[in-house]
Amino acid sequence: MLILGIESTCDETGVAVVEDGVKIRSNFIASSVSKLAKYGGVVPEVVARDQVKFIIPLIEEALSGIDRDKIDAIAVSYGPGLVGSLLIGVETAKTLAVAWKKPLIPVNHLKAHIYSNWLDSNSMHEIGSFESKARNSKKPQFPLVALIVSGGHTDLVLMKDHGDFKLLGSTLDDAAGEAFDKVARVLGLGFPGGPEIEQLALRFAQGKPISKKSALSLPRSMMNSNDFNFSFSGIKTAVANFVHGSQLTIHGKSVIAFEFQEAVCDVLVSKTIRAAKKFVANSIVVGGGVSANSRLREMLIEKSTTFDVNVFFPPKNLSVDNGAMIAAAAFFEKKFSDPLKTVANPLLHF
Ligand code: KG4
Ligand code: ZN
Repeated sequence: MLILGIESTCDETGVAVVEDGVKIRSNFIASSVSKLAKYGGVVPEVVARDQVKFIIPLIEEALSGIDRDKIDAIAVSYGPGLVGSLLIGVETAKTLAVAWKKPLIPVNHLKAHIYSNWLDSNSMHEIGSFESKARNSKKPQFPLVALIVSGGHTDLVLMKDHGDFKLLGSTLDDAAGEAFDKVARVLGLGFPGGPEIEQLALRFAQGKPISKKSALSLPRSMMNSNDFNFSFSGIKTAVANFVHGSQLTIHGKSVIAFEFQEAVCDVLVSKTIRAAKKFVANSIVVGGGVSANSRLREMLIEKSTTFDVNVFFPPKNLSVDNGAMIAAAAFFEKKFSDPLKTVANPLLHF
């Protein structure tokens, strides 16, 4: 089954054609990110206007060399996201479904981040822990625990089968990616902040610091709470208070970036491992922009070796928003909908 997947929830426009939920036949992404650096964050009006510019050329590129008659369905992410951006993808997908007489499959963007782990890629998914089991299982196995870490969301989800999602916990305030972006802004770094913090943290970790103990000790908020919720605003505020009014050297900034990344990853990994043990998960899957973070990958794989579970991350280019994950989720869920009744839902959740 060939599905055309369309993504337009925020500042990326993604269009892809995916076969049977796993094989990427084409995948194109355009981003407004270069325009956002000067604002230090997403400006809804700016990104929505770019969605209008990008979407038709990307659909044409994604379909070049593919017979349009062979497309079996059109999938689109209908939420959550920014309403202006969402509307462009949703209305385009509805129009194409009607004009080309194809079924429409609306997809929850958060579920699609989970399904990015089913996509084949040239670079193998990173699989951690028990090697013997990993060799037999190249796709995630149910039951699984999914950690979604993006700019707008931090969720732990239990999946017992395709389409069967149970939300275990969420952030009570900032999302993990949002905290990366805000701390980057405090340190005077660019947007998006995640990759910038990661690079700076690496500089500290690889350098020759006098001691790995720094003056900055950040809280691991809610790490030991008796639930699967998260909170990142305390860690972010602790950094802001520490930095307040000081002239930081590049070394000082890299120490803060390192300590911040350690604190966020510690909390994410510890709660994910606890959920995987409690629900006897066969796999842990991670999705969303923050899943590109190498320290998060390293720490989760390391901590999962003590029990029988496989860890999956999408290849880094599929961690961020893309159309391929939308097509993958649509294939496994197959929740068709009448194009004339389909509407964007900015507040959609599980
Ligand atoms: O999933 P995504 O592309 O968009 C949303 O749905 O929000 O995630 C974007 C977020 C941003 O907050 C960005 O700073 C973060 O993912 N991010 C990272 C890294 N790459 C992107 N955070 C930490 N480390 C990274 N390498
Ligand atoms: Zn996303």
